[in-house]
Amino acid sequence: MEKTITLALLGFGTIGTGVVKTLKQNKQLLEKRIGANLSLKWIADLDIVRDRGVEVDPSTLITDGMRIVNDPEVDIVIELAGGCTFAREFILQALKNGKSVVTANKALLAEHGREIFNAEQESSGLIGFEASVAGGIPVIKTQREGLVANNILSIYGIINGTANYILTKMSKEKISFDEALRDAQKLGYAEADPSFDVDGIDSAHKLLLLGSLAAETIFSMDQIYVEGIRHITERDIEYAAEFDYVIKLLAIYKKKNGMVQLRVHPTLLPCSNLLSSVMDSFNAISFRGDIVGTNMYYGRGAGEMPTASAVVADIIDIGRALVSGTLRNRNDFHNTADIPVVQNIDDIETRYYMRFSVIDQPGVLAQISGILGKNNISISDVYQKERRAGDAVPLIMITHRAREHDVRSALSEIANLDIIKADTVFIRMEE
Ligand code: NDP
Ligand code: HSE
Repeated sequence: MEKTITLALLGFGTIGTGVVKTLKQNKQLLEKRIGANLSLKWIADLDIVRDRGVEVDPSTLITDGMRIVNDPEVDIVIELAGGCTFAREFILQALKNGKSVVTANKALLAEHGREIFNAEQESSGLIGFEASVAGGIPVIKTQREGLVANNILSIYGIINGTANYILTKMSKEKISFDEALRDAQKLGYAEADPSFDVDGIDSAHKLLLLGSLAAETIFSMDQIYVEGIRHITERDIEYAAEFDYVIKLLAIYKKKNGMVQLRVHPTLLPCSNLLSSVMDSFNAISFRGDIVGTNMYYGRGAGEMPTASAVVADIIDIGRALVSGTLRNRNDFHNTADIPVVQNIDDIETRYYMRFSVIDQPGVLAQISGILGKNNISISDVYQKERRAGDAVPLIMITHRAREHDVRSALSEIANLDIIKADTVFIRMEE
């Protein structure tokens, strides 16, 4: 082949290693598909000594990442170092130098998206970020291409593999939260700072990208309501199961009457919902479009090879466009006029699961239901399994649809009752 596409990688960690393996393992096939030779000229990492289990030409290994963005021979830089400091500088400089960029760095795109996508507009290069949402599932391409005929009305996603892995292990194997998190870290699913996974931040980063593509504008992190899974106990998982529900960390985008909801939180889902059967590090995203209706995409959402698959897909897309001379900016976020208002969490309306820790004595139910009723909250189910007269026992209530503001007011009033012995857990529900 006449042409060569020259690549350079920043970050030879979990995903970087997967990319190098993929480029080696499928070299011939990828070159045939791209119509050019692929040459990985540089691999930059702070540590170029550690064995990654893949053989590389030692002369490609360097520690100075900036050297690769300033090399005129490099066509595409692959940013897999993570973080928002050096990675930001690196990407901005690469775009300024007219190079295309492929990244899996959702944190950076969510925190500095406006700046980075503006830099892309001014560059002759492109930025590919398929790997930044849902690992190996091609959801960015799906939204941009497969669903392009639609107004996206809602997105429901299980888009953090680590949190889903933890909830699955807690529910199916009765493994503790901490142990499950340690396993997820060993398996390479977790972020460098795993609180991003368990506190819902990583899901929010990804939701920001999906929601922004849907609304064709760029939202900011402070517009997303974020709640993680730390407060979810084995008990809640068991009680949810008594009502035929499972608990999942969901990322939700809903558009209605010119307003959108952007929220990430643990959610009770009926067992019959397809998303309920998404286990371990798998992810799934369900889109509802005004033309197509509902469809759902499922696959591995984290880890070395699934994520590498998405990174290499972007390399091939950009490489093909370079070969054919058709590299064009997509201008995904052009909407500057019709920007939807993001609804405050207090104004959402949904059903709620509530777990009270109450003294087991007559009249308790009446006191709680009285306050809920006064706040316009109607109860659909009540459940008390344990019986320990005079002691604290769990009391579970499921409500009909209620406004979040009313739920919070009621719960703060209930918290002052003498019969309440611990913080009340409340979890939103979706059908
Ligand atoms: P790792 O920590 O395994 O790899 C990052 C690598 O980059 C490390 O080897 C690190 O070196 C190196 N690095 C950090 N800063 C620099 C720098 N300034 N110059 C050169 N090298 C540097 O992370 P992952 O591979 O797991 O993740 C990479 C990116 O992919 C992140 O943005 C992450 O959010 C994203 N991602 C990860 C997924 C996963 O399943 N793991 C899935 C989807 C996206 P050192 O270790 O010495 O600090
Ligand atoms: N830490 C992320 C997760 C990696 O667990 O989903 C994939 O983006």
